[in-house]
Amino acid sequence: CLWVRNLRYKRKLPGPFAWPVVGNAMQLGQMPHITFSKMAKKYGNIYQIRLGCNDIVVLNGRTAIRQALIEHATEFAGRPNFVSFQAVSGGNSMTFTNYSKQWKMHRRIAQSTIRAFSSANSQTKKAFEQHIVGEALDLVQVFLRLSADGRYFNPSHQLTVAAANVICALCFGKRYGHDDLEFRTLLTRVNKFGETVGAGSLVDVMPWLQSFPNPVRRIYQNFKELNAEFFAFVKDKVIQHRETYNPEVTRDMSDAIISVIEHGKDNGLSKDFVEGTVTDLIGAGQDTVSTLLQWILLLLVKYPHIQAKLQEQIDKVVGRDRLPTLEDKKSLAYLDAFVYETMRFTSFVPVTIPHSTTTEVTIDGVRIPKDTVVFINQWSVNHDPENWKDPHVFNPSRFLDENGVLDKDLTSSVMIFSIGKRRCIGDQIAKVEVFCFLPSCSTSASLRASPPRK
Ligand code: HEM
Repeated sequence: CLWVRNLRYKRKLPGPFAWPVVGNAMQLGQMPHITFSKMAKKYGNIYQIRLGCNDIVVLNGRTAIRQALIEHATEFAGRPNFVSFQAVSGGNSMTFTNYSKQWKMHRRIAQSTIRAFSSANSQTKKAFEQHIVGEALDLVQVFLRLSADGRYFNPSHQLTVAAANVICALCFGKRYGHDDLEFRTLLTRVNKFGETVGAGSLVDVMPWLQSFPNPVRRIYQNFKELNAEFFAFVKDKVIQHRETYNPEVTRDMSDAIISVIEHGKDNGLSKDFVEGTVTDLIGAGQDTVSTLLQWILLLLVKYPHIQAKLQEQIDKVVGRDRLPTLEDKKSLAYLDAFVYETMRFTSFVPVTIPHSTTTEVTIDGVRIPKDTVVFINQWSVNHDPENWKDPHVFNPSRFLDENGVLDKDLTSSVMIFSIGKRRCIGDQIAKVEVFCFLPSCSTSASLRASPPRK
């Protein structure tokens, strides 16, 4: 019987004592990934916590995570049926949907669209690169304007607009000016997305919190509103695309997705999935990249000697008379190392989007029932002293060998895009974006010739 099965399962998984009603919710704190890592020291890398009425399995460390997401890839590829997930992308999100045949088709379409517009051939690669470099040049102009006469400013808005513009250009063939107030306001609101979705989101594990006034309900209301607003913005653009659709000319990703979902052979996805897909891509593509760019700026300021070393390498390889291209990447190993170290050190997506088990599964001799929520602690992989010397020290050189060559085995050990069937589908474009932004900004600050684009 279910009760006996659950009892047996509970006995097998270690974990902290769970209080009635709230479980361990009050123990997670502001940084659940740190709490999870501390708990791993006590209970091992696979343990169980309880949040509200959900038993949740927490996976820490490379071995346990690989065992689950690679060796049992399908069994761990689900998403929980959380209430907040239904508010995303008009209810037709690929990211926040459970594993199914339909999800597989949806993901394949999103993935091949990204590839077609970023890396399919040398022409698309070049066009994509040009978008990014154009954005970087604009950004420098805005930074120069805002810092004129030695003034201080907070660059986070500008970085958010720049990252959003790159993905909007791909999706809609359109970018927005840095002074476009409506766009900026929308992005500021969308940046609050992470407050609700993610490990420890209380409304998901205690849905009854929605039924009376309290701060969690307010955050959730806000979350629903910002999702509705963002979805309406995207839907409006998709409708315009639908109305002007020409099968002979694929202008951008929206056209490509319309073409496959609405005009391709039957794939089981209704036309509402077009809006869902585009919203997913823009949502996932701007917040993450802009956060990475913000961390990069912060670390450049904090470690001026590293900044100087980077500038020196860029000056040597690219010089100050031209803009850098992706071709330069192979000669800029320290820059690559710097980006990987930023991702490792900050682990700014410390816990992946929650997973769930699609069927009963046994790992490490521990039986986990179907539909169990699973948290994956990427931070623990990137800060494991077994794998990284002085993990709490920021040191890009750890990724270079004695000849200054990038150690690919080590870079692939950084876990920030997750692994397995739910692995991020934008990892390549994110890396290209960041790689092009950085040296373009540094070089163009000295070129300064180009006037801002409209
Ligand atoms: C999923 C990280 C940029 C599209 C994810 C996940 C992580 C992640 C951790 C969750 C994986 C899981 O649940 O196991 C990042 C980071 C980025 C980045 C660190 C930038 C540095 C992008 C970009 C795009 C994108 C630029 C697209 C334009 C997606 C999508 C998913 C996803 C669609 C959902 C995949 C699924 O559920 O099957 N990303 N991402 N991401 N990402 Fe990214």
